[in-house]
Amino acid sequence: MSVTAMVKVSDPLALQSIEPNERTTHIVDQKHLELSGVSIEFPTKHGPYKALDNVNLKIAKGEYISIIGHSGCGKSTVLNIVAGLYQATTGGVILNGKEVNEPGPDRAVVFQNHSLLPWLTCYQNIEIAVKAIFKGKKTKPEMKAWIEHNLHLVNMDHASNKYPAEISGGMKQRIGIARALAMKPTVLLMDEPFGALDALTRAQLQDSVMEIQAELNNTVIMITHDVDEAVLLSDKIVMMTNGPEATVGNVLNIDLKRPRNRLELANDPQYNHYRSEVLKFLYERHQKPE
Ligand SMILES: Nc1ncnc2c1ncn2[C@@H]1O[C@H](COP(=O)(O)OP(=O)(O)O)[C@@H](O)[C@H]1O
Ligand SMILES: [Mg+2]
Repeated sequence: MSVTAMVKVSDPLALQSIEPNERTTHIVDQKHLELSGVSIEFPTKHGPYKALDNVNLKIAKGEYISIIGHSGCGKSTVLNIVAGLYQATTGGVILNGKEVNEPGPDRAVVFQNHSLLPWLTCYQNIEIAVKAIFKGKKTKPEMKAWIEHNLHLVNMDHASNKYPAEISGGMKQRIGIARALAMKPTVLLMDEPFGALDALTRAQLQDSVMEIQAELNNTVIMITHDVDEAVLLSDKIVMMTNGPEATVGNVLNIDLKRPRNRLELANDPQYNHYRSEVLKFLYERHQKPE
């Protein structure tokens, strides 16, 4: 039961008797990012297609959430609704007490196929976002230092003056992540960010993202179809049922201490338990709950 539900509204002094810490924790945990009753219908040639039905999620500040589910179930649609790129037909998203209705700098998106501007260098690709957000708030030298700091976070200092066509897919994805981080978003949204990479590059980038997140404590929502990636990176794995009318089938809490080391975890019984829970869901229990 929530703290507010436990006190009578008619007693204005009742809230004051709650320990301050308890109250703060309650607010931080419950009110950061919330999807309530989110449904969406797309118009199609054959009539409306209800892709999502009644999606509910509560996400705390600094949590790393993965969304996993079969291809076409509606994962990107959920992310696009949080990004403000799609409007829910019913229900909605609240971020820090404000309804999400359009894209905003508090929510940066990293797509699977890095969307760098090919005519700009890596530095300039980040600069364009930084200028848009910090114009009038940071001086020119401050912006330069900030761009360089973010290039450094993803280990790409050396590629500052290279063009996207001159670097590998993994490097482009690093720049895409640096650009998103440089926006200082409250929420980082990543749609299969490592999907197109080879196994080694993917592992390196996953480790970088874990380190960066430990440092910055951003809230992250990441879509993946890689079970190991979901367990390794997440605090919670949101498992979606198949569409149409896809919804949250189950949420698995991943209580593994951080920092997490992929080699040590490979033989960890708890890690393997989580892994098999997700696999079981995907192979057996992915239909909509009755
Ligand atoms: N803009 C759109 N118009 C019509 N249908 C869409 C649109 N976006 C997504 N869909 C449909 O919604 C379903 C979920 O898509 P999507 O969220 O991309 O799935 P996932 O990311 O899980 O693979 C699919 O059936 C897809 O065809
Ligand atoms: Mg998708």
